[in-house]
Formats: sequence, C-alpha cells, structure tokens
Amino acid sequence: MLIRRPPDIPSSEITPERVFLDRRSFIRHAALGTAAAALSPSTLSGTRHTAPQDPRFSELESELGEPVNAWTEITTYNNFYEFGTAKEDPHRNSGSFRPRPWTVRIEGHVNNPGDYELDDFLAPHRIEDRVYRMRCVEAWSMVIPWRGFPLGDLVRRVDPTGDARFVEFTTIVRPDEMPGQRTGVLPWPYVEGLRLDEAMHPLTMLVTGVYGVDLPNQNGAPLRLIVPWKYGFKGIKSIVSIRFVEEMPMTTWWAANAREYGFYANVNPEVDHPRWSQARERRIGELRRRETLMFNGYANQVGQMYADLDLTRWI
Ligand code: MTE
Repeated sequence: MLIRRPPDIPSSEITPERVFLDRRSFIRHAALGTAAAALSPSTLSGTRHTAPQDPRFSELESELGEPVNAWTEITTYNNFYEFGTAKEDPHRNSGSFRPRPWTVRIEGHVNNPGDYELDDFLAPHRIEDRVYRMRCVEAWSMVIPWRGFPLGDLVRRVDPTGDARFVEFTTIVRPDEMPGQRTGVLPWPYVEGLRLDEAMHPLTMLVTGVYGVDLPNQNGAPLRLIVPWKYGFKGIKSIVSIRFVEEMPMTTWWAANAREYGFYANVNPEVDHPRWSQARERRIGELRRRETLMFNGYANQVGQMYADLDLTRWI
C-alpha cells in the first residue's frame, strides 16, 4: 500500500507535464512499436521525451515497486461505455461533456442528506494523492496516481443511520453529451455499490483527479469511485448520487450478466471469468503478462473483511 499525503507529495510535484517526461514509458513504446496501437496520433504529438527531473517521481514509483503508467495511457485507454465501447471512445467522444456545474445528491438512510454543489461537497475534505494498481476484469491493468479523499470521511460526515448497510452510487444520465447512452449497450444509468464496511475502508477513495490535476472527462470527471482491491468496473464514474440503503443494490454489470459479474468483484486470480482466466494480467506498457495478486495486492489490508464470505460463490 502506498498512501502519500499532501505534505509528502505536493500537487505541484505530480503533474501531467511530468508524465510526459516519463522517458521510460516513451522508450517502452518506441521499442515495442506499440504506441500507435494504444494511443491516437493527436495525443502522441504532444509528448516530450526527456528524463524526469524530479527525484520524487522515481521514489513514488519505487514504493509500489511498479512503474506508474503514463498520462497518455491513463487518459486514452479507457472504459466508459457512456461514451462508447472501444478503448479510445471515451477520450474521443467526451469533449463536449460538461463536468461543471455539478451537484452530488446524498440520500437514503443518512442524518445529513442533501444536494451539494461540488465545491461545497469537496471543501471539508483533505485531498491527497495515492498511487494504486487498477486491475480491469478484462485482465489488463495499470498503476495510476489518483487524487481524492477517503470515502469513509464522507460517510462519517453524512452520518448514516442504523438502517444503512450498503452504499449505492449512480452515474449521471446525459444522452445529449454521452453518445453511448443513446444506445442500449448497458441499462442506464450505470449503478455501483459497496457494503458499508467496504465504503468505510481507508483504501476506498472518492477521486477528483489524476496526476495532480482534475479528472479528464474520460476518466470520470468530476467525481468517481476507486476501490483498488476490486475489478475496475466497481470504480463508477461521474457520480451524481450516493444513496445509503438497507439492501444490497443491484449493480449494472451484475444486472447485465450475473453469471460473469457479481456484486463483490474482488480481484481474485483463483476464480476465473467464465470466458477467460484471471490468473494473469497484461500491464499496459509491458510485454510479459504479470501474475494477478489476490485482492490486487491489497490482501493484507482488506482480506479480513471477507473471512466469512465464500469467494467462489460471491464473485
Ligand atoms: N463508470 C461508468 N459510469 N461507466 C463505465 O462504463 N467502466 C468501468 C469503470 N467505471 C465504467 C465506469 C470499468 S469496466 C473500468 S475498468 C474503469 O471504469 C476504467 O477506468 P479508467 O478508464 O479511468 O481507467
């Protein structure tokens, strides 16, 4: 686990500029000739190929023991079906999406429900930068420097009542700006959920930025969820509602295909997807596949929460 707070890593030290300075990533792409496959020419043209100047950058990488993915990888290889199903669609099709003004609704079994304008919603929270692995259920992964705050801080602030056992998150519906929502590829809106203890776990984040700047639209602006020990689809984007509920919420991918996707979606190399193995993963930017780690490498921190759960049944 790597948790860095603002005094350690000021935002000025993690900027997209510095991602462009990620020489290793450039060499990786150049050597493999993979740049064209993963990245559109327009994003590549802005790339500068200089070594990182800031020693903290390599420190940040080395603490997780794995290189941080480049800005271009994180922002052009995405899943956000509201903008289309191809990896480059969210980057290409989200230009006219307006992430502000934005209102977040807190509802359900809480003592402090309400509609919060985004700045008011964020103001009480201490924003920090954290580098997490992200493992998609499709068996690719990245290492991403997020910016945000622990969801648990929000939960304490809005003060759930004794009836709240789960938290349900909902993405905005704006078919005018989100071309994927004009198709039936998924039932809209996109919905996700967590058990209350998962929501309170210190690793679970509400994310507002990446690489020290506000989230690009394609990454879920202006507010998304990150639960690093779960498959990426739990990380719901462009959240407009956070509801505290008694019953386990029916989530989008679970509803779409219960045989393949469940509510928990804990990263588990021992439980294969019905159509592919989950034992290994393709780290974007690397040639060889990596072993997938139990709970995505966060087992020491989160394993205890599932001591009584049959992980082969509760996928
Ligand atoms: N949130 C919404 N609203 N719609 C989506 O299609 N895709 C999910 C998740 N959040 C998705 C979403 C999936 S499958 C993954 S892997 C991650 O977002 C990808 O996040 P990234 O594009 O920022 O890497």
